[in-house]
Amino acid sequence: MIYPYMICPCVNCPEDIALWHRLCMDEYNPIMFSEKRLKSSLPVRDLGEPLHFYKTIASTNDRAQALAEEGAAHGTLVVADEQTAGRGRFQRSWSTPPRSAVALSLILRPEDITPVALARLNMLGALAVVESLATLGLEARIKWPNDVITAGGKVAGVLTEGSWIGGDLEYSVLGIGVNVSPKSVPDRSEVDYPAACVEEGVEGKVSRIGLLVDIVGRIGSWLSLLDSEQLHSAFEDVLAFRDQPLNISGPDVELSGVLRGLTPNCRLRIALTAGEVIILGGEDMRIRPVDMNRDWATLN
Ligand code: BTN
Repeated sequence: MIYPYMICPCVNCPEDIALWHRLCMDEYNPIMFSEKRLKSSLPVRDLGEPLHFYKTIASTNDRAQALAEEGAAHGTLVVADEQTAGRGRFQRSWSTPPRSAVALSLILRPEDITPVALARLNMLGALAVVESLATLGLEARIKWPNDVITAGGKVAGVLTEGSWIGGDLEYSVLGIGVNVSPKSVPDRSEVDYPAACVEEGVEGKVSRIGLLVDIVGRIGSWLSLLDSEQLHSAFEDVLAFRDQPLNISGPDVELSGVLRGLTPNCRLRIALTAGEVIILGGEDMRIRPVDMNRDWATLN
């Protein structure tokens, strides 16, 4: 499609389109992704200013951490169209090919944060994505502690990293990656959980900028409610595999049980076969439904 402008005013247009086609597309095409378009929608709920936008970067979390170490303010947002060394949990790599995904990292410096609120910060990113996908008509759940899954598989992951001074949180970097178009979906051989993308579950193209801004806004809305019962209920409402048998594994644990819900600090409440309910949590734990061949069309 040809747009009615002769000069592309995009400052940082990531789309490498043919010269004759480079016609201010980001202004008129909702799937285009540029710093200019993004900036016009930020800040949202006091987050997203300043914005550090990159066409290509190693990892937005690494960049956000470096900025935070230099004193960057609460709400600073790092966004990239492509990551060449994106990171996930367990030192895994996270792929963000150009023009296909959302990769963002937010610097948060919450004041007087309680231990419960800190534990919740981690799941907050996942909740924001789940809520955002719901506005697109796509049902999603949080796979504890910070993955977002749809009926197709994992569509988003969250990596929260923090810096401590003594017992106080100096800053936290909340990193979120969302697979938007099919190009962003890693091969099954590269992941240990089936991956999917947002566009597989909705009709038509999804605006990455719209999705990104909505997610950031939702994080902003929930931040002041970190300690609240309301947030705890919101997590439990969208918790994947609730009341289903799970295999749970970690450095010190290997067991099966039924997921009953979460504690206030986002640990798992697991019912063992004998009926006893135990609390499990920790950085290195993984959960899997006992039946990995389950019907993926139902998330409950
Ligand atoms: C996971 O599923 O293990 C977490 C993935 C987190 C990926 C995001 S993409 C933006 C930010 N930058 C990174 O290097 N990682 C996070």
